[in-house]
Amino acid sequence: MRYIKLRDLEVSRIGLGAMGMSHGYTGSGTDDAESIRTVHRALELGVTLIDTAEIYGPYTNEELLGRALKGRRDQVVLATKFGLVSHAGEGAWNLDSSPANVRTAVEGSLKRLGTDHIDLYYQHRVDPKTPIEETAGAVGELIAEGKVRAFGLSEAGPDTIRRAHTVQPVTAVQSEYSLFTRGIEERVLPVLRELNIGLVPFSPLGRGFLTGTVRSTDQFDENDFRRDNPRFTGENFRRNLALADEVKSLADEAGATPGQVALAWLLAQGDDIAPIPGTKRVSRVEENTAADAVTLTAEQLDRLSSLPPAAGATHTEAQARMLER
Ligand SMILES: NC(=O)c1ccc[n+]([C@@H]2O[C@H](COP(=O)([O-])OP(=O)(O)OC[C@H]3O[C@@H](n4cnc5c(N)ncnc54)[C@H](OP(=O)(O)O)[C@@H]3O)[C@@H](O)[C@H]2O)c1
Repeated sequence: MRYIKLRDLEVSRIGLGAMGMSHGYTGSGTDDAESIRTVHRALELGVTLIDTAEIYGPYTNEELLGRALKGRRDQVVLATKFGLVSHAGEGAWNLDSSPANVRTAVEGSLKRLGTDHIDLYYQHRVDPKTPIEETAGAVGELIAEGKVRAFGLSEAGPDTIRRAHTVQPVTAVQSEYSLFTRGIEERVLPVLRELNIGLVPFSPLGRGFLTGTVRSTDQFDENDFRRDNPRFTGENFRRNLALADEVKSLADEAGATPGQVALAWLLAQGDDIAPIPGTKRVSRVEENTAADAVTLTAEQLDRLSSLPPAAGATHTEAQARMLER
């Protein structure tokens, strides 16, 4: 495994997204023992960056990681997120990045994760009610107290990134980025490079689509959130299946799996990028982590870059309202 720097934070260039172990996808929360083995296998393979959030579950994903990382905390760059649970009474899925909420959130996350510090603490979504300078200031205080090592933002637009960075340097921005979702290339990525901020692409496998294993939405449980995701419905689904098939044929030619090709393409976009593919299975963490050794030719990279974007919005309308683009 190779390592890169997100600003001055060293991480494995392939991380592990833990969300699906507890939340959102088919089978989430059904086999914690395999999820914990997956975390341990990731560490053995040299993965250091592990990603969670208080909203995943809510809370159960951080609790699971707390159990998985017992005795292994110092091997990990542990990243979690605040701001999608309002602790002042409104509860889960309510934006709240007020300084008071950040302070409450961090104590809960530290406790659940069984640690005295969070390595990378992201605002999960920009809160239009709280000026970002106030949020950045609150995280800056946590850094001064040693409870947090570095500050991150997720799905923030260029203006917010610049304003936050003025108050407290931003180490990484976590946003959706993959062969299917390239929206950040135009306006966000140039700002990250200008300010020396790392990029952590989430859903780098297109929520599983790019691995070629999603063939029908009948595969999804009733509560799998891809069921009402526009990319996974109707005509969009059929078009995206054809795109995934193109990635698969290139992968066959490259002697890799489609998921590895999707990750190798991301890694080729720069050494300031550390994707966090999500899985709850040992075999898949092995496959995904091995993408570090996959090198695509310039011609293969060009062909992948020329693929059209996925059909359909990447979020439901309600989720999209929380994004800053
Ligand atoms: N900041 C944000 O707003 C935000 C939003 C979404 C996600 N995230 C973070 O990003 C991480 C990754 O994103 P994601 O989980 O949404 O999407 P992803 O990594 O693009 O895809 C995950 C899906 O692909 C499947 N999968 C993984 N590896 C596979 C392989 N080698 N072959 C076949 N299928 C495979 C997983 O199923 P199995 O688990 O069954 O293997 C899961 O259903 C999350 O875990 C979370 O930490 C952040």
